[in-house]
Amino acid sequence: MSVAAGVAEMPQPVATPSARVGMVGAGQLARMTQQAAIGLGIELAVLTDDALAPAVRAGARQIHGSAGDARDLLTLAEGCDVVTFDHEQADPALLGALAEHAVVRPSPAAQLMAQDKLEARRVLADSGFPVPAFVAVESPGDIERFAAAHGWPVMAKSRTGGYDGRGVWVLDGPEQARDLYDRLRAAGRALLVEELVDLECELAVLVARNPRGQVVCYPVFQTHQHDGICHEVIAPAPVGAELADSAQRLAVSVADGVDAAGVIAVELFVAGGKLLVNELALRPHNSGHLTIDACHTSQFEQHLRGVLNWPLGRGELAAPACAMVNVLGPANPGDPAAGLAAALEVPHAHVHLYGKPWRPGRKLGHVTALGDDVDEALQRARAAAAAMVAA
Ligand SMILES: Nc1ncnc2c1ncn2[C@@H]1O[C@H](COP(=O)(O)OP(=O)(O)OP(=O)(O)O)[C@@H](O)[C@H]1O
Ligand SMILES: [Mg+2]
Repeated sequence: MSVAAGVAEMPQPVATPSARVGMVGAGQLARMTQQAAIGLGIELAVLTDDALAPAVRAGARQIHGSAGDARDLLTLAEGCDVVTFDHEQADPALLGALAEHAVVRPSPAAQLMAQDKLEARRVLADSGFPVPAFVAVESPGDIERFAAAHGWPVMAKSRTGGYDGRGVWVLDGPEQARDLYDRLRAAGRALLVEELVDLECELAVLVARNPRGQVVCYPVFQTHQHDGICHEVIAPAPVGAELADSAQRLAVSVADGVDAAGVIAVELFVAGGKLLVNELALRPHNSGHLTIDACHTSQFEQHLRGVLNWPLGRGELAAPACAMVNVLGPANPGDPAAGLAAALEVPHAHVHLYGKPWRPGRKLGHVTALGDDVDEALQRARAAAAAMVAA
């Protein structure tokens, strides 16, 4: 094939990205955000000191550094239209300073609600949202007084830094309470304590917002936790229409109340037929991973659209039913990819691997399966996930 003389020397037009987004963190949430960014022509830069972080391995541009360094945060923000997050561990004071130089969404004030469980409980309770009874813990006596009013056992929680159940403890009596208090105090961590709710089930509702005032609420999902870690999610949640409607209205009010931008996940408890707000995540969330394969707009695409103030997409399920099963690191070392071929034999199962090294109980991937009903979807997702965990 002949090439016209001189073409090679001509300046080649370089496609400009549709937008540049900076993300603090580069774990699996950033990795799946990168997947969505590609389709929208967005350049995603991620702040991490790990060159092998899941999002970096997926092609996001790495900004070397950490969320705890003000200069690194500024470097991330340079040239980006907006800065957002794949975790809530960044220091609120640093984020406040960053927000003077860059567009930060959600706002540092909103972020605080996801960062500090006590702050979230207080703000939600003061705004009239239903939450479990709780109290701040300044001494072991606070736990004992709370238990005297509400009964043992009680649920103790680290105010900050907890995830996947690391940071929540059921306390049976005063001795355990004192032990935990001493241990956490020695580690410089503050506590709250709350009633141990007799759970009928747990729900999660994702809401997307953008600064131009659009709000999209996803269907209600049911989540299943063991030892505080999410194992499975099903959609639609098998609850009555009235409860589902209340859950959606509650989640939208909470999202409006904290002025969320992008995706917010509102974790809910159902107890005695009533809803209580458990936790907020102002970012894509494990309960919403199924939206990639089962909804009109994935939570990751929606988060990008929300923080960029772009029009939001529809959130409805595009299948009658769907289930998501996490691929958690088994007790013995193993790479789930070794069981991939077997997992792919399962019809209607969609496998997502995060490229993370094995650790027992660590989230290494997930499987979403669609079906005519929740049971069918769940069977498929479980079969595919088991093929990779057993490998
Ligand atoms: N007050 C409570 N009563 C009963 N169970 C609770 C209570 N608080 C938490 N749990 C259980 O522990 C799980 C984890 O709690 P929580 O969501 O507060 O912590 P987390 O480890 O920060 O979670 P995540 O990984 O979602 O950030 C809940 O999903 C629920 O199953
Ligand atoms: Mg939680």
